[in-house]
Amino acid sequence: MDRILSIECVRITEAAALSAARWIGKGKNDEADQAAVNAMRKTLSKLRIRGKIVIGEGERDEAPMLYIGEDVGSGEGPQVDIAVDPLEGTNMTAQGGNNALAVIALANKGEFLNAPDTYMEKIAVGPQAKGAIDLTLSATENLKNIAKAKGVSVQDLTVIILERDRHKELIREVREAGSCIRLIQDGDVSAALATCWPNRGVDVLMGTGGAPEGVLAAAALRCMGGDIQGRLVFRNEDEKTRAQAMGIREFQKIYRIQELAGGDVVFAATGVTNGDFLKGVRFFPGGAETHSIVMRSATGTVRYVEATHNFNVKQLTF
Ligand code: FBP
Repeated sequence: MDRILSIECVRITEAAALSAARWIGKGKNDEADQAAVNAMRKTLSKLRIRGKIVIGEGERDEAPMLYIGEDVGSGEGPQVDIAVDPLEGTNMTAQGGNNALAVIALANKGEFLNAPDTYMEKIAVGPQAKGAIDLTLSATENLKNIAKAKGVSVQDLTVIILERDRHKELIREVREAGSCIRLIQDGDVSAALATCWPNRGVDVLMGTGGAPEGVLAAAALRCMGGDIQGRLVFRNEDEKTRAQAMGIREFQKIYRIQELAGGDVVFAATGVTNGDFLKGVRFFPGGAETHSIVMRSATGTVRYVEATHNFNVKQLTF
């Protein structure tokens, strides 16, 4: 993967974040999402790649842009598969909440799991607990193994979980095991990444969220040296049929990090609203500031990019 591409990726997530940020707190989910999609698509078209969207806004008939299978890029240069979530945290943006991101990941052709738009049961940890997770084990057993790997007690761990009815039993079990819990409204990509910083107060992400978000989280964790496992969760037969059409054969399979995002991976994200590791977009008269992270699995280098955008010179025209 050409390293120049990683900086180019930041320009794409910056554009999506700047566009979506115009909708912060306005209660308009669709408008915020569409603004991010438009911006991402327009900037992607200028990138010198022969790209294909493998994780996107949905399938061709339900998403006019950035749909799974869509060809993007200038049509010249390397062949790459692309996973996007132009606005991870649509609700958080519309409500003015925390941790909304614009996200993209690139890999060589065939290296991302072609995850259907279903749910995925996930467990994710940072580098210190890499190799200590196993979705075949209970939450309690995983917590013991993670605590051992980190050299702490189970009571010292904090588990981040999406606040959903489907997690009632998981929450009960984690409480009984003695770990702390941080419940979040949305945004499990950001939550998975938060496990990678020793001082963010989060040790493990557990529970079921979107499958596409699982692939994006895997791309980021590959770069940060963390770990994730995922198992697809289907709500009905239709979802299974669609998954089969995308090449999924074993419905119960547990995907390891390399199977979710293999080979040389690039990940970039820009904060839309303030979050655990990125600041949100800050508009000022005539411009805005953005805060992004970009990383490559090949080197493990993690870069933060603070950018000032001058709208008097370059308009926001997405
Ligand atoms: P969006 O990108 O659609 O805003 O997803 C937000 C999110 O919270 C993800 O982070 C998470 O994986 C998923 O939704 C959970 O889905 P649900 O809200 O249906 O429980």
